[in-house]
Amino acid sequence: VQGKTQAGASPALWSGRFAFIMAAVGSAVGLGNIWKFPYITGENGGGAFVLVYLACIAVIGLPIMMSEVMLGRRGGKSPIGAMAAAADGEGRSRGWAGIGIMATLAAFIILSFYSVIAGWTMPYIAEAFGGGFEGIAAEDSGALFGGLLASPGQLLLWHTVFMGLTVLVSAGGVRHGLERAVTWLMPALFVLLLILVGYAMTTGHFGAAVGFLFKPDFSSLTAESILVALGHAFFTLSLASGAMMAYGAYLKKDISIARTSVTVAVMDTGVALLAGLAIFPIVFAHGLEPGAGPGLIFVTLPVAFGQMPGGSFFATLFFVLLLFAAWTSSISMLESLVSYLNEKGVSRVKAAVGGGIAAWLVGITTVLSLNLWSDLTPLDMWAQFEGKTLFDIYDYLTANIMMPLGALLTALFVGWKMKPVHSAAELGRWHAVWFPVVRYLSPIAVLIVFYFNLS
Ligand code: PFF
Ligand code: NA
Repeated sequence: VQGKTQAGASPALWSGRFAFIMAAVGSAVGLGNIWKFPYITGENGGGAFVLVYLACIAVIGLPIMMSEVMLGRRGGKSPIGAMAAAADGEGRSRGWAGIGIMATLAAFIILSFYSVIAGWTMPYIAEAFGGGFEGIAAEDSGALFGGLLASPGQLLLWHTVFMGLTVLVSAGGVRHGLERAVTWLMPALFVLLLILVGYAMTTGHFGAAVGFLFKPDFSSLTAESILVALGHAFFTLSLASGAMMAYGAYLKKDISIARTSVTVAVMDTGVALLAGLAIFPIVFAHGLEPGAGPGLIFVTLPVAFGQMPGGSFFATLFFVLLLFAAWTSSISMLESLVSYLNEKGVSRVKAAVGGGIAAWLVGITTVLSLNLWSDLTPLDMWAQFEGKTLFDIYDYLTANIMMPLGALLTALFVGWKMKPVHSAAELGRWHAVWFPVVRYLSPIAVLIVFYFNLS
């Protein structure tokens, strides 16, 4: 195990299919499912957005995930190293290695703000544990959340703790604790979400929520919502950020990339839909605003917990699980950079600490954009960024620009540059279905979405 920290040592592999699925699901399932999916669904009008999102997962996300895991496994290296090796392997085409660099950069930017949001779970754990949600009214819950955002000191503290936790695991080598942690985490999260959905059914607004989530009203769909849905498909599946490539590098040769990718995508989507079914009935029951933004679950869920029997216990458990889910995701974000630096001769500990500190520093600007700098919208001169705070900009830049672009380039690489015999050797009989999709369908779909957002 110690040998892994040495540059050039061949990395240990996941013990098997199950271990890889657990790590990949740990990366995929996180704030994206429980925090981001509900609030962007609320902001983008519900059903039609959800439908587009599901289509993006199936037609673009899943084949790109297969591509990334394949590239990672073929390269057996960090995302940057694997892309460089893959590019070399297809002839003189080094430029494609840029995909790995952009992915690592995207993961770094995401980590910087993800840590701030994940930090919110910790004061919520304390509040829940202390019974602070018992009988809480929607207004008071809103005020509680507002108070947290208004306090740079608190946000900074929890951001720091969370980044520390991320660095800790990353420095120790991700394959150590991750496998075991995720094995109990995911089932527990699933059960807890089911309990929340069960409660949501008693609010009398479950039907309205199901209608909101699954009855598409295409008049509410804009070109930008389609881009948001597409970007979220990548974000939620940890694509175009190196995470799946980095984890794919530790995957044994005889394991089916297609089957494992399908499993990961299905579990990730299941968690997001459950989160939606748990949250929107509460939103409607309490007259809250579906488009309330990033605070949505932090305002709504305490109200629900506050009214259910054993609510403080379940609330504590829920925010603990959310913290863990975010943790197993943030570890995978740092892995892109750490595995690269490690390859370049930097020890794993130094790489994790250095990368963590750098992301922590950038994260401070997200902390400030939620309060002292909330009026700072530095990129107003570009229409795409108008009115966006630094946090909004990081989110938009990664999910709506870098990730779709990275995925597009990945599809073009595996669909047009890489020799089909090479990809077929990795994907087996699934290759026949996958290939036309990544060659035509995925890139054309991404290009169309981009086109309508730029015109
Ligand atoms: N997939 C994670 C989520 O849904 O919360 C977010 C994420 C993890 C994005 C890892 C990128 C990444 F590399
Ligand atoms: Na996710």
